[in-house]
Amino acid sequence: MAYLSPSILTADFSDLKSQLEKLEEGGADFAHLDVMDGSFVPNITFGQPVVRSIAAATKLPLDVHLMVVRPELCLAEFALPETEFITVHQEACLHLHRTVQQIKALGKKAGVALNPATSLSTLEYMLEDIDMVLLMSVNPGFGGQKFIESTWEKIKKLDAMRKVRHPEMLIELDGGVNLNNASALKEAGVDVFVAGNAVFSAEDMVQRVKDFQVILK
Ligand code: DX5
Ligand code: ZN
Repeated sequence: MAYLSPSILTADFSDLKSQLEKLEEGGADFAHLDVMDGSFVPNITFGQPVVRSIAAATKLPLDVHLMVVRPELCLAEFALPETEFITVHQEACLHLHRTVQQIKALGKKAGVALNPATSLSTLEYMLEDIDMVLLMSVNPGFGGQKFIESTWEKIKKLDAMRKVRHPEMLIELDGGVNLNNASALKEAGVDVFVAGNAVFSAEDMVQRVKDFQVILK
């Protein structure tokens, strides 16, 4: 059983509510919200006010992906009742262990994201503390990029690590996911699938979400 978390990064932002409704109708599990600050990544998306509005506009639990420097400064405002996961980047945290504990103290599941070049060994001393590891399969900042092939090995290694040390920990994959690679990614160990372009570029988004769920469920 795996989960679909469509990323609204490539949505039509002037029409978010109706697009969120389509995700619900198709049976998406979460709404993946890419918060970007123009500093950690070369792109700016949206912040707390928009996330609050999205929370009010959808029944989908929120999967908040913070691509911001010093995320510890803004965690509380993203810990809404509708928030399921708050994910921070390992590369953006000076004190990752402390930040993960702060997310948990806010009553939320803590995710840690790794950029493609960041080693799994950076999590060696805190794997048991993390609810979800998000592996970036593209460099963060933009939707619609090509899947980086070295991610396959990383997923398999992380899957082996968590089976021994923390079997309940989820593996989320973000970047270049599509209907062609989803089945093999699931087989490799991915539990939560982020899909931006693959969902929002579809002519029939509801059907596209359903097509994903046939593979993931
Ligand atoms: C990239 C974001 C992703 C992005 C994925 O920095 O974290 O969530 O929306 O987009 P696709 O699925 O188009 O690669
Ligand atoms: Zn993301």
